[in-house]
Amino acid sequence: MIIIKNLKKYFPTAQGLLKAVDDVSFEIPTGQTVGLVGESGCGKSTLGRLLLRLYEPTSGEVEFNGTNIFDLSTSQLKNWRKEAQMIFQDPYASLNPRMTAEDIITEPLKIHRIKAEPATVEEAFQQVSLNPHYRSHYPHEFSGGQRQRIGIARALILNPRFLVCDEPIAALDVSVQAQVVNLLKELQQKMGLTYLFISHDLRMVRYIADQVAVMYLGKIVEQAPTELLYTNPLHPYTQALLSAIPLPDPIQEKKRTRIVLSGEIPSPLHPPPGCAFCTRCPHVMDICKVKAPPLIQITPGHKAACHLFN
Ligand SMILES: Nc1ncnc2c1ncn2[C@@H]1O[C@H](COP(=O)(O)OP(=O)(O)OP(=O)(O)O)[C@@H](O)[C@H]1O
Ligand SMILES: [Mg+2]
Repeated sequence: MIIIKNLKKYFPTAQGLLKAVDDVSFEIPTGQTVGLVGESGCGKSTLGRLLLRLYEPTSGEVEFNGTNIFDLSTSQLKNWRKEAQMIFQDPYASLNPRMTAEDIITEPLKIHRIKAEPATVEEAFQQVSLNPHYRSHYPHEFSGGQRQRIGIARALILNPRFLVCDEPIAALDVSVQAQVVNLLKELQQKMGLTYLFISHDLRMVRYIADQVAVMYLGKIVEQAPTELLYTNPLHPYTQALLSAIPLPDPIQEKKRTRIVLSGEIPSPLHPPPGCAFCTRCPHVMDICKVKAPPLIQITPGHKAACHLFN
């Protein structure tokens, strides 16, 4: 279980303090997937990077195996780095174009001074359904889906337990998105992996995630087991996000009413006082403009931060 407690990341900028992640608390049960959704700039990647200690937090904790990862010493950190890995959005940008597939996949072994046995290398390719025959090929010789498989094989080579998948399918053709997501699901079952799955694709999140957390301007505004969130969204922001998903059934799709939010997402440099969503909320009340609603449990396992439920 990964326990995130009151995590904050504020970036000092020339325009003032930017609250990218602002007092976020939630848990990721071992072997499960938590989907993280929300508009561009709401802090998803910053949160993902904090969980891998690629950033130091402004305050707060991330407990992994009962230890706060921000308290680890340099040598403990080196060991812990094997346990937690990242899968990136654009495998082309994140793979070194001058390295062969084999060198890319086995580089983490070299960094940790572990010898790459031929069997290990072969297995690493097969695990992601890549033919080891292509081990000496370069990134540009692979398709987008194959490149993402290389990225996944590289992330798995050290036998991690936790993966942050940051928009892992966003750059791929629709036709291969499902294949890559199914591969991630399969690997999760086989290796008992725990995922934070960041995505704009709400349909894919419904398919892969056990729980979903919805972020708005650095804060989690709703969190619930996946089916509960999709069938009974409580927060007006979640309702708006979900109303934008086309429905597969044509009759249902005809009846779908889309909640269109007015205005743009405010800058995290100047969030509105009170509830950060109050400037766009169709149900805004006076209290929303002065008091930020806390994230509280509304029904078992279902949390929302909204004055409608207080
Ligand atoms: N290193 C940094 N320095 C200053 N500001 C940053 C830094 N990294 C991110 N930000 C800002 O923090 C906010 C959150 O960024 P983040 O990349 O986490 O959003 P995101 O939800 O991942 O967006 P997207 O969906 O576009 O990937 C943004 O306003 C961004 O400009
Ligand atoms: Mg991002």
